[in-house]
Amino acid sequence: MSNSRTPSDKYAQDTAFLEDFTTLSAFGSTPGGGVERQAATAADGEQRAWLHRWLTDRGFEVHYDGVGNQFGLFTLTPGAPYVLSGSHLDSQPLGGRYDGAYGVLAAAHAAHRAVRRWTASEETPRYNVAVVNWFNEEGSRFKPSMMGSSVFTGKLPAGTALATTDPAGTTVESALREIGTIGDHAGPEVASYAEIHIEQGRGLEDAGTTIGLVESTWAARKYQVVVRGEQSHTGSTIMADRRDALFGASLLVVGVRELAEQSTDTPLHTSVSEMAILPNSPVVVAREVRMHVDLRSPDEALLDAAAKKLAESLPGIEERAAVGIELVQTHGWGVAPFPEAGVELAAEVADELGLSHQRVMTIAGHDSVNMKDVAPAVMLFVPSVDGISHNEGEFTQDSEICAGTDQLTEVLHRLMNGALDNGR
Ligand code: GLV
Ligand code: MN
Ligand code: MN
Repeated sequence: MSNSRTPSDKYAQDTAFLEDFTTLSAFGSTPGGGVERQAATAADGEQRAWLHRWLTDRGFEVHYDGVGNQFGLFTLTPGAPYVLSGSHLDSQPLGGRYDGAYGVLAAAHAAHRAVRRWTASEETPRYNVAVVNWFNEEGSRFKPSMMGSSVFTGKLPAGTALATTDPAGTTVESALREIGTIGDHAGPEVASYAEIHIEQGRGLEDAGTTIGLVESTWAARKYQVVVRGEQSHTGSTIMADRRDALFGASLLVVGVRELAEQSTDTPLHTSVSEMAILPNSPVVVAREVRMHVDLRSPDEALLDAAAKKLAESLPGIEERAAVGIELVQTHGWGVAPFPEAGVELAAEVADELGLSHQRVMTIAGHDSVNMKDVAPAVMLFVPSVDGISHNEGEFTQDSEICAGTDQLTEVLHRLMNGALDNGR
């Protein structure tokens, strides 16, 4: 194929893919154009059932493992391991249509196309192919994020994941049983892994590039914080007697933001993203606040220094607000490379397809961040318009989601032929 397609051209669009994406986007759809289908809710169950049918209708065998990861296996070479590809269908509250769901659908179409090509060629690939919808990548209803792939890769015990509760006290296990997508399959033996996702930032769009070749991750640290004060009357308790947990929490919110503001040379992204106030009542000084802190940077040493500063700021806040603060790291990952051979393979494919490409880091976590530690992994991005994500306004051009699916198809086809066998 000539190297003539540029981002301003309309890439060839696959109507079947776009129609399926529209169908998928209807599960849990919101009036603002997004979706709300947090892990193991009814809407998640419905989309899982739809994917199950889509795969079985095309000859894939669908299985669930003990933490609700959904696998669709297509066996062309009995006994051989599988090239696994996918992402996640679960969403954030009032989330976008593309985050995760695009990658699962692209993997399903790409795997199906690769199977058809191998079948038509009458050659036998070295590896089979399988599609995966990882359980609970978002970590919104149940923490931590990337739960299903963390269990699959041995980073999180299955029992811990299953016993995790949502804010209403429902466990992962009972929520998965409710939607009927928990099983006892071990999952496929994985030869290699490939995932495509929206970028969730504006780097590709600003550069006018269609395919991001993820060469490395930013580091992330996530913390559960509990601020303990004492419940009292908002009116009658004199100020000197107050032990206001919400005041202590507020000082911490500002401190977390200031960490980022003080980091002027290297990016540091910081947020307090979730807060529960007890008892959260108008005439009561809060006795306890629980919150979630998220710190990220492409420089792990800087992240460690920020985490240290955060810890060092606690005694001052405790004294000023007369509270106790407990800070526990609950999840995190380092700056870590994806295999160079996979980046080169994906660049070669993009060149052949005439798709512009550039190397990028991923700031967001993905299931591939786990998978790259157990198998050769390729991670691809397509642009996000205005970088909007975890928002109903998430959008990627049809031509670019189709181009990404073409790219993934070629990558899967080559991985099935052992393209990364010697390249980790
Ligand atoms: C996603 O799981 C993230 O934490 O970025
Ligand atoms: Mn995602
Ligand atoms: Mn997400």
